[in-house]
Amino acid sequence: MWCVPEIGLGTFGIGGDFWRRDDSNDFEWVRALRRGFELGLRLVDTSELYGDGHAEELIKIAASGVEEVLVVSKIHPTTLEPEEVFKRLSRSAERLGRRPWIAMLHWVPAGYTICDVVKVLEAAVARGLADHYGLSNVTHSQLASALTCAKKLQPAAVENRYSLRYRRDELDVLPLAQREGLLYLGYSALERGALALDPLLGSIGRRYEKSAVQIALNWYTKIPNVVPVVKASNARHVEEIAQSIGWEIKEEDWKLIDKQFYIYRLQY
Ligand SMILES: NC(=O)c1ccc[n+]([C@@H]2O[C@H](COP(=O)([O-])OP(=O)(O)OC[C@H]3O[C@@H](n4cnc5c(N)ncnc54)[C@H](OP(=O)(O)O)[C@@H]3O)[C@@H](O)[C@H]2O)c1
Repeated sequence: MWCVPEIGLGTFGIGGDFWRRDDSNDFEWVRALRRGFELGLRLVDTSELYGDGHAEELIKIAASGVEEVLVVSKIHPTTLEPEEVFKRLSRSAERLGRRPWIAMLHWVPAGYTICDVVKVLEAAVARGLADHYGLSNVTHSQLASALTCAKKLQPAAVENRYSLRYRRDELDVLPLAQREGLLYLGYSALERGALALDPLLGSIGRRYEKSAVQIALNWYTKIPNVVPVVKASNARHVEEIAQSIGWEIKEEDWKLIDKQFYIYRLQY
């Protein structure tokens, strides 16, 4: 039984972009991740694509000596040949220095169905290549099919885009994940930084001596099963992110924010 942190650290842009390695800022990236782990944020999201695997190498360095870092890692195979998927997951584990807690594909590859994805990820977990598997960038109908076609192991998590400004999943994917007891990882939780500048969140934050970012992240933590995933490339930002939890916004403020951003359930 794992105790899942209320906020996950994201690593897109750490160690480079998609398929492009950059080690020019390794010291700062490792410092930021290490600070997050020290502050109890021990769930980290990554991918073989981020920095062509360098993000995973940096997680290994930052997590050295830290127990119970829960790594969610994604792969992007072009085929779902089991050997291809297993090879990629093994390489991820080598770079991470541990096997992923949850393994996923970034999305369903062209020419395959969600059931093909479930089948190969179930086999990967059965081989010991990850503790669990999850599904990323899935629709409600894909998730519903996945739950039906899983033979031995149900998915443990869904990872989709979710923020106060992108609430589409509240219509169907999130209620299904909650009903089935799946972890719901909401990526781009700050809407790529835009929520840091939101005037309503900023004005509510002043009453709590908190920032707009901290109000937004605290808001998500009241939603069952949801763990927001926030980019963690800067130690100062990570400290701010860590102080988003351990206190609560008042019910009336939660509802005010809900109402203000309600439109983003329908407009996306
Ligand atoms: N499954 C998928 O397909 C998928 C897709 C996209 C993302 N993801 C995951 O989700 C993670 C988060 O999403 P994201 O990186 O797209 O966007 P995000 O976390 O919504 O926003 C990142 C932006 O917010 C800024 N930020 C972070 N903390 C801040 C703070 N305390 N105050 C002000 N600004 C702050 C960052 O600036 P700094 O860089 O200066 O800190 C960056 O510009 C990714 O890193 C990745 O792990 C997964």
